[in-house]
Amino acid sequence: ALGLRNKSLLRLADISDEQMLGLVDFAIALKARKRAGEHLQNPLLKGRNICLVFQKSSTRTRCATVVAVRDEGGNAEYLGQSDIHFGKKESVKDSARVLGRLFDGILFRGFAHSIVEELAENAGVPVWNGLTDEWHPTQILADLQTIKEHFGILKGLKLAFVGDGRNNVCNSLMIGCAKAGIDVVDVCPPELSPDPAVLAMAEAAAARHGSTVSVSHDPAAGVRGANILYTDVWVSMGEEAVFQERLQLLRPFQVNMDLVRATGNLDSGRVMFLHCLPAFHDNSTDVSKTTGALEVTDDVFEAPFSKVFDEAENRMHTIKAMILSSLA
Ligand code: CP
Ligand code: NVA
Repeated sequence: ALGLRNKSLLRLADISDEQMLGLVDFAIALKARKRAGEHLQNPLLKGRNICLVFQKSSTRTRCATVVAVRDEGGNAEYLGQSDIHFGKKESVKDSARVLGRLFDGILFRGFAHSIVEELAENAGVPVWNGLTDEWHPTQILADLQTIKEHFGILKGLKLAFVGDGRNNVCNSLMIGCAKAGIDVVDVCPPELSPDPAVLAMAEAAAARHGSTVSVSHDPAAGVRGANILYTDVWVSMGEEAVFQERLQLLRPFQVNMDLVRATGNLDSGRVMFLHCLPAFHDNSTDVSKTTGALEVTDDVFEAPFSKVFDEAENRMHTIKAMILSSLA
């Protein structure tokens, strides 16, 4: 019904606003369906085989996909970096043609976005992007579901992304919010400002809804009026070499209670905190303890207005919605 049958999903920019919002609503319905146990009576992926080709680590995306597929009676096969020849002994193109003969769909996580494009061009079956250096579309579907469940609406809200203003999550979030009519502000140091091309794409989408896309280098001023405060790690997978530099640049952009108060929406309860996870918060890992890489403090992470675990669960419902829309 969404017009996504046999289609790949590599970027939110590649589907219509209606299709994106339709996937979010479908995920909300699938969540209720699972709660009622209805998927057990009528599994929708019986006899279907899905593979996960992952070049980077994952907890949520991997497990969400495996559970989504198995919930619906399908089979999910995880293929990690060292399990297959992909991109080493065998080209991406040849791997795509082989996997496409065997599997009904491929979820990919890896480095350059051009790899997932090459996979999709050659596989002959739907390919879904489970994160590349540039984009993380399935994350944002879950974010939009979580926001809609919490506020009952999307259009008209304001989201502030605070941190590395040009990473995969931020890029996809700007596009996804703009397509949903959510005002979005990218709050980041000048050095980590968004790619002008991404900004232009988001602005074009926002123009359809009369919403706004902006960039701010002043944390307190930038988050003013925000209903959703969103952050991500300061150093993404594959960027380990710039760890120290990022710490210096991003310390003033930590999400703490002062920043939540600066939204002006804490007292009215019109604010929520989201994070794609994994997160560095107080003493959450040895890395956060020894380096002080803390994009969010515990008083925010553990607050009642933090919905990060609803958001993590929703990865499963939204990935299920995406796969079913392509295959069922
Ligand atoms: N948010 C997210 O993509 O988490 P994983 O890296 O654990 O998949
Ligand atoms: N920006 C992070 C997101 C992890 C889900 C990364 O790419 O490592």
